[in-house]
Amino acid sequence: MSIAEGLVILLVLGVGQAEICPLSCSCKLVETKGLKVDCSSRRLKEVPVLPYNTIKLYLQNNSLTTAPAGIFDHLLNLEVVDLSNNPWHCDCHILYLKLWMEDQTRSRHLAEDRCATPASAKMRPLSQLTGNELTGCAGPWPITCQEFLVRDIILIAFAIVVLVLMSCAVRISKRLACCIAVTEIPPAMQLIPKSIRKSHKSQ
Ligand SMILES: *[C@@H]1O[C@H](CO)[C@@H](O)[C@H](O)[C@H]1NC(C)=O
Repeated sequence: MSIAEGLVILLVLGVGQAEICPLSCSCKLVETKGLKVDCSSRRLKEVPVLPYNTIKLYLQNNSLTTAPAGIFDHLLNLEVVDLSNNPWHCDCHILYLKLWMEDQTRSRHLAEDRCATPASAKMRPLSQLTGNELTGCAGPWPITCQEFLVRDIILIAFAIVVLVLMSCAVRISKRLACCIAVTEIPPAMQLIPKSIRKSHKSQ
C-alpha cells in the first residue's frame, strides 16, 4: 500500500467518524437527508457525540443534567429535537442549552424541557428561566472573568519561567564566551600582564 493510498483511507475514515452513530443510540437514515438518532430512554448521563448529519434527535427520558457548551453546535440540519424528561440542573451551566434551544427556530421541539434541580427552579421550563435564576456557579466575578484570570495567571507564570530560563542561558553563554575569549589569546601572551598587552597592541 502506498502512502497516498493510506492517506486516502485515513481521510475516508476521518470523514466517516463524523457520521458514526453514538454507541448508546440507534440511527436510521431518513430519506437520504440525514440520520434519525434515537438515544431516548437509555439512562444516559452525558450527551453523546452526535453525527453531523443528524436531522432528528431523540434524547428524551434519560438522566441528563447538563449539556456542555457547544455540544450541539455542529448540528445544522436538525428538524426535530426532543430533550424532554431529563433531570436538567438549572444553574448557570444550563445557559448554553437554553440559548441553543431558543436559536432552534427551524426545528420542532416535541416537548418542553423542565428543570429538576436546584429546588428553586424545580419543574420550571428552561425557556422561562431568567438570568437572575441562573446563578449559583458565579464566584466573586462572572465565570468568564474567573476563567480569564486563571488563564492569565498560567500565562504569566509561564512567561516568568521562560524569562528565568533565558537569563540563565544568557549567563551561561556569557561565561562560555568569556572562557573561549581567554583560551583564544595565545598562551604566551597570557603570561604578559594585561596593561602591557594593551600597549603592545596599540603600537
Ligand atoms: C424511560 O426510560 C426507562 C429506562 O431508563 C424506561 O423503563 C421507561 O419506560 C421510559 N419511559 C418512557 C416514558 O419512555
